[in-house]
Amino acid sequence: MAPPVTVDGLLRSAEQWLGAEGARYATDSPRLDAEFLLADVLCVSRAELLACLREPVSSDAQRSFAVVLRRRADGESVAYIVGTVPFLDVTLSVGPGVLVPRPETEALAQWAIARCRLRGEARPLRVLDVGTGSGALAVAIAHSVPYASVVATDIAEAAIQRARSNARSCDVAARVQVVHADLVPSTAEPFDIVVANLPYVGLAEASQVDPGVMRHEPLDALFADEDGLAQIRRLLSRLPQHMAAGADVGLEIGWHQGLAVLAMTRSVFGTNAVRLERDLAGHDRLVLAENVGGAGTSDGATVTSRRPLSWTPSPAGCGPQRPDAVRDR
Ligand SMILES: C[S@@+](CC[C@H](N)C(=O)[O-])C[C@H]1O[C@@H](n2cnc3c(N)ncnc32)[C@H](O)[C@@H]1O
Repeated sequence: MAPPVTVDGLLRSAEQWLGAEGARYATDSPRLDAEFLLADVLCVSRAELLACLREPVSSDAQRSFAVVLRRRADGESVAYIVGTVPFLDVTLSVGPGVLVPRPETEALAQWAIARCRLRGEARPLRVLDVGTGSGALAVAIAHSVPYASVVATDIAEAAIQRARSNARSCDVAARVQVVHADLVPSTAEPFDIVVANLPYVGLAEASQVDPGVMRHEPLDALFADEDGLAQIRRLLSRLPQHMAAGADVGLEIGWHQGLAVLAMTRSVFGTNAVRLERDLAGHDRLVLAENVGGAGTSDGATVTSRRPLSWTPSPAGCGPQRPDAVRDR
């Protein structure tokens, strides 16, 4: 009689197979992907999975695992396959038609949460999340700042539905209003904090985007004209009339767009209180304008690098802790 197939054996062969298939739709983390996918099939957390490497796996579970491995080898992200992704301390549902939130975007959420806390709850705090997608920024901010009211916009119906559903499942729907709008809703009251992770990949860069991402994720959520700056430029030109005095603006940008967006942002707000932040890989990532239009404006543009982020794993059984299949745009 053949020995039973164990968790360890399955993971080893899956790692090998994904690595080989990866020649077409590369994953640079075949082992990790296999662990998240098998944990999901077996309805356990990744930690639980790793604690039972010698346990046998039923033939039904092996068949289900083979199906999801094929999807992964076909370029679909782990997040789409398991249907959830952790983002700071919330777990979001994701699926086709809506961009999977990237770990890099957590830095923008952390900045906004820190700015909210600095302002305190003395008066109502209004936050705008432009191009909300799954609702990642809006929901994470509302979840961490109980006195913030967030308006989240998108032009894609799938994103609007997904963001509303995530706001409900994370218990913040009463404070997160998801609306269909081109960038900013025209009738909105002024905002204290604005965050935007709009499409910023240039059409000229399409060949550099992960083929799996190109195949499965919504391209309208990624691309913005030839240089990738069209939507950010449009937003910056419209923002001032929607901001309260002394408001903060945080923009996620492409890895080489720092100086261009820094210049645009400074020219719109007529101030030097704008800084560029790089991510852990040393790439341009955020342009942050603090206290713009108000008395607190300070001078001097700076470029800083982020310290490692501390992030909270998702609760056991609520999806993967870190889907590495999700790549930079
Ligand atoms: C790069 S995705 C980011 C999604 C989400 N903010 C995140 O960080 O995961 C950009 C989102 O902006 C939306 N979008 C694109 N153009 C827009 C516009 N003119 N107004 C509002 N949303 C827009 C897209 O539909 C997409 O959901």
